[in-house]
Amino acid sequence: MADSITITDNRSGESMEIPIKDGGVDAAEWRKLLPGIWFHDPGLATTSNTASAITELDGIEGVLRYRGYPIEQLAEHSTFLEVAYLLINGELPNQTELDNWVHEITHHTYVHENFRKRFSDAFHYDAHPMGMLTSSVAGLSTFYPEAKEIEDPDVRMRQIVRLIAKMPTIAAAAYRYSQGLPFVFPDNDLTYAANFQSMMYRVAKPKFEADPVLTKALDVLFILHADHEQNCSTTAARVVGSSHADPYSAVSAGCAALYGPRHGGANEAVLRMLDDIGSYDQIDDFIESVKKGEGRLMGFGHRVYKSYDPRAQIIKKAAHDVFEVTGRNPLLDMALKLEEVALSDDYFVSRNLYPNVDFYSGLIYQSMGFPTEMFTVLFAIGRTPGWLAHWNEMLEQDSRISRPRQLYVGEGERSYVPLADRSA
Ligand code: CMC
Repeated sequence: MADSITITDNRSGESMEIPIKDGGVDAAEWRKLLPGIWFHDPGLATTSNTASAITELDGIEGVLRYRGYPIEQLAEHSTFLEVAYLLINGELPNQTELDNWVHEITHHTYVHENFRKRFSDAFHYDAHPMGMLTSSVAGLSTFYPEAKEIEDPDVRMRQIVRLIAKMPTIAAAAYRYSQGLPFVFPDNDLTYAANFQSMMYRVAKPKFEADPVLTKALDVLFILHADHEQNCSTTAARVVGSSHADPYSAVSAGCAALYGPRHGGANEAVLRMLDDIGSYDQIDDFIESVKKGEGRLMGFGHRVYKSYDPRAQIIKKAAHDVFEVTGRNPLLDMALKLEEVALSDDYFVSRNLYPNVDFYSGLIYQSMGFPTEMFTVLFAIGRTPGWLAHWNEMLEQDSRISRPRQLYVGEGERSYVPLADRSA
């Protein structure tokens, strides 16, 4: 049996055989037979935009691997910065490489004083931290004009280090600003996750004592969010990067896409949904309203996972570790019940709707003291190495600018009508 497909243009009777390679068929071949006939694929649900060696995702089997390593093993044995190195460089680091990488990231956590004072002060007092993060990251490009030299691998790597290092600093600054609290400088003695907590929560004391269980859980959450192949925000970052814009602009585009409630904003939406449901005995009514199309069960469903989201399973376990320290989140029982009801209901089962990464992450973040507005920001910190790994891979591949086609369904040509001649 040939590993190929044959397409026939029934208008002309012409046929063409196209090889199937790496699970795809080359659309450039299709174009040769059918110029001007486009694949119509809203949401790009069946379109591969790139060949990538970073993350493997099998939505039927519930498999997620970074550079070949199963997410379960990385969550158990690795650290976020080691995973970031893996995603960017393709291999796990040896001890010297890891030490140098951690040192580099740790020593690029500071942001320019002009940025900290003048830029941040421009926001309204109650600005959403995700809006602040998105525009602040774009603003960083003005501090590093060399970032435009995207063809130079050393320049690219410097911006990658800067972005991974500065995301927690900017994120914490956005939070402190919204609370009217003074900025806390990074503490280079602390790990990535502990330093972030220090910048978020330190008050008066010279040193922040991060709880080791919560710090580990936060690091695991960052690992689970670090990459997810061609998702909405990574695609946004790649599309912007494909025009050869600098990486700060590309990552800012990633942040903007992540903000929406169908993507990274879902963790915030889950908590708001649980609050709106209000109590355990309202769950059945809520499920009925979802089935009538009056809303969605946030934290459920995924474009790719059609069995289960492996990240959700790891998060559920992490939630129990966190609750041992913080006490049980009162919303957990509602979430568990909601999951139980949904998983036994034909509406959800027949549509392959299972809990995704966002269903339990918000409960953990809330128990750790993060305000709801910060949940998507936490996702963005975790996803930054993934965005950058894809941006870097794309530039190494020398890919073309993203420029999809459309099926035009509007009016044909017509003549301009002067304002006075138009009907009321
Ligand atoms: N609650 C109720 N019904 C749903 C849900 C949901 N969460 N998700 C999908 N459906 C239904 C949808 O109404 C449709 O039903 P029908 O066939 O009768 O019209 C069917 O399932 C297919 O939905 P779809 O919108 O075509 O699916 P999609 O692949 O385009 O959307 C999704 C994927 C994640 C945007 C969607 O499942 C959703 O909105 N989920 C809630 C938001 C959420 O939790 N997002 C986080 C995703 S994981 C984190 C990340 O990587 O971003």
